[in-house]
Amino acid sequence: MASSFDVRAVQTTVYDGQKPGTSGLRKRVKVFQQEHYTENFIQATLDAVSPDGGAQGTTLVVGGDGRYFLQEAVQKIVKIAAGNKVTKLIIGQHGILSTPAASNLIRKLKADGGILLTASHNPGGPDNDFGIKYNVSNGGPAPESVTNRIYERTKALTTYRLADLPDVDLSAVGTHQFANFTVEIVDSIDEYVALMHRLFDISLIRNFLRARKDSFSVLFDGMHGVTGPYAHRIFVKELGLPETSVMNAQTLPDFGGGHPDPNLTYAHELVERVRRDSVSFGAASDGDGDRNMIISHDWFVTPSDSVAIIAAHAHRLPYFNQGQVKGLARSMPTSAALDRVADRQGLEMYEVPTGWKFFGNLMDAGQLSICGEESFGTGSDHIREKDGLWAILAWLNVIAHISEERGTTVGIRDLMDQHYQSYGRNYFTRYDYEEVDSASANKVMDVLQDHIQSQKLVGQALGCDTAKFTVAQLDNFDYTDPIDGSVSRNQGVRIVFDDSSRIVFRLSGTGSQGATIRLYIDKYEGDASACFLDAQVALKPLIQVALEVSQLTALTGREKPTVIT
Ligand code: G6P
Ligand code: ZN
Repeated sequence: MASSFDVRAVQTTVYDGQKPGTSGLRKRVKVFQQEHYTENFIQATLDAVSPDGGAQGTTLVVGGDGRYFLQEAVQKIVKIAAGNKVTKLIIGQHGILSTPAASNLIRKLKADGGILLTASHNPGGPDNDFGIKYNVSNGGPAPESVTNRIYERTKALTTYRLADLPDVDLSAVGTHQFANFTVEIVDSIDEYVALMHRLFDISLIRNFLRARKDSFSVLFDGMHGVTGPYAHRIFVKELGLPETSVMNAQTLPDFGGGHPDPNLTYAHELVERVRRDSVSFGAASDGDGDRNMIISHDWFVTPSDSVAIIAAHAHRLPYFNQGQVKGLARSMPTSAALDRVADRQGLEMYEVPTGWKFFGNLMDAGQLSICGEESFGTGSDHIREKDGLWAILAWLNVIAHISEERGTTVGIRDLMDQHYQSYGRNYFTRYDYEEVDSASANKVMDVLQDHIQSQKLVGQALGCDTAKFTVAQLDNFDYTDPIDGSVSRNQGVRIVFDDSSRIVFRLSGTGSQGATIRLYIDKYEGDASACFLDAQVALKPLIQVALEVSQLTALTGREKPTVIT
C-alpha cells in the first residue's frame, strides 16, 4: 500500500458549454478528448458533490455503458477523485455498470453519489457520443440545483487536482488501496440480479417458460449495449432460456455501429426476427440499459401502454402484491392510459415534465411506486432510474402469473385485448424531426407560443370535415413539484381538445447535434370495437391538425419525420 501519493494542481482553462442537460453532459467523443475537457468536468462535478464544496470524504459509485472512451474516463476519475480526497470509489468491473445497476449500487451501498459514463441510447465510437452524468445519494439523476452548481464551477475553474497514481486494473474484482483512498472493483451484475430476485417471482417465470416452451418464445436484443451480459445472466442462466434467446448480447464500444435505442426504427433487426420467427415476446434495451421496448409478432406495445399494463397487474408482482402501490406517474407527453388505471384503482396520479429525475422526489416521499415515459422508460421505486430489464421481467412475471391462473398461455396481444376491452385505448404516436437547424425549430415553437399568447384557437373546431376537434385548452406545461415546491416552466406546448385528445410539441433536451422537434399525439377511444386500428390510421386527422397549426413543414422543410414511434 502506498503511504501517500502526490497531488498536483493542473492549470486549465475554461471550456464553454459544459452545461449538463436532462441526463448529464453529452457531447461527441472528440469533444471529451480535448485537452483538460473531461478533467474539467470531473473536477466541477466533484466540487458540486456537496453544497459547501467538495467531495472530500465521500464514497462514489462509478460505471458506464461500455462505450468508446469509457476506460480512459474511469482512469481520469480515479486520479481526480484521489486528488480531491474522495474516500472510496466503487467501480463496476471493466468500468461497466448499467444505469439501473449503478442506481441500485448507490442505494444499496449507501454511497454519496455516482458518476455514470453514458450517453444512453446515442451511438458510440470515436466519431459519436460520450457522456458524464452525476447521480445523487438516492440513486437518481442530480437535481437542477446540483447540475447548476456543476455548470457554475465549469465556468470558474483554473485548476483541477490530479493524484499521481498508476492506472487501476479494472479487469479484476478486488480492492486497491492508495494511502487513505480505496478503489473497489465490484462485479457489475451480481447486485442487480439479486435485486431482481427480491422484486419478481423468478421461479414462477422459469417454470412458465419451461412448461410453455412450445407456445411461448422469447427474444431479447441487447443492441450491443450494456445489458447483454445482464440479460444473458438472467434469461439464460436464471430463467433457463436457450442461448439463442439473447441476441447482440456482447457489449461493444461502438454498439456494433448501431443506434442503441429500442424503438421500431433502430431495433429493426429485432422487429424483423420477431415477425419472421413468430416470436411471442420480443424485448430490447438501450445502450445503458434503462430503456426498453416490448413487442410480439402480432403487436407493438407502446411505452405508454406498457406502464399502464404493469400498473394494472401490479398485484401480480411480489414487490407490490400487498397493496403496496402508493401512486402512479407519467411524464406529460406520455398517453393517459395510465391515468385510467389510477382512476379505476383509486390511486394518486402525477403528471410530471419529461425527465426521469422528476419522479425521484415523489418516490423518496413514499407517494409513487410505478411510473413511465413515452420515451421507452418504465420503472418503479426500487431504484431511482428507469429500468429496462425490470420492465421486461415485470411483463414476463405478469404473463406467467396470468397464464398459470388460467391454465393457458396468455400472450402480449391477449393482455392488450383485455386491457383495451376493460379500459378503452389511448391511441398514441410520436413523430421526431431530428437534426433540424435550431433557428427553424425555434420558429416552430414561436408559432405555437403565439397561439398560446393569442388564445384565438380556443373554441375553434380544427381538422377535416369527417374529423373535427374543438380546442379546449392551449398552454405551455408548467410543473410545481408537490414535494419541494420547485417550479419548472415551459415543459412543452399542449393543445388539448374537448374529447381529451392532445397534441404536444417540445424540443428534445438530449440531442447533441442541431435540434429535435418532438410531436406527440394522444387520443382516447372508449369503444372496444374501435380499439384495434393501426395507430397511424386512427391518429391521421390529429397529426394533420398538428402539422397545420405549427406550420412545421413550411418552417423546417421536413416533409416527413425522421422516426415514428
Ligand atoms: C432521457 C431521460 C428521460 C427522458 C428523455 C427525454 O432519456 O432519461 O427521462 O424522457 O431523456 O428525451 P428528450 O430527447 O425527449 O428530451
Ligand atoms: Zn438510456
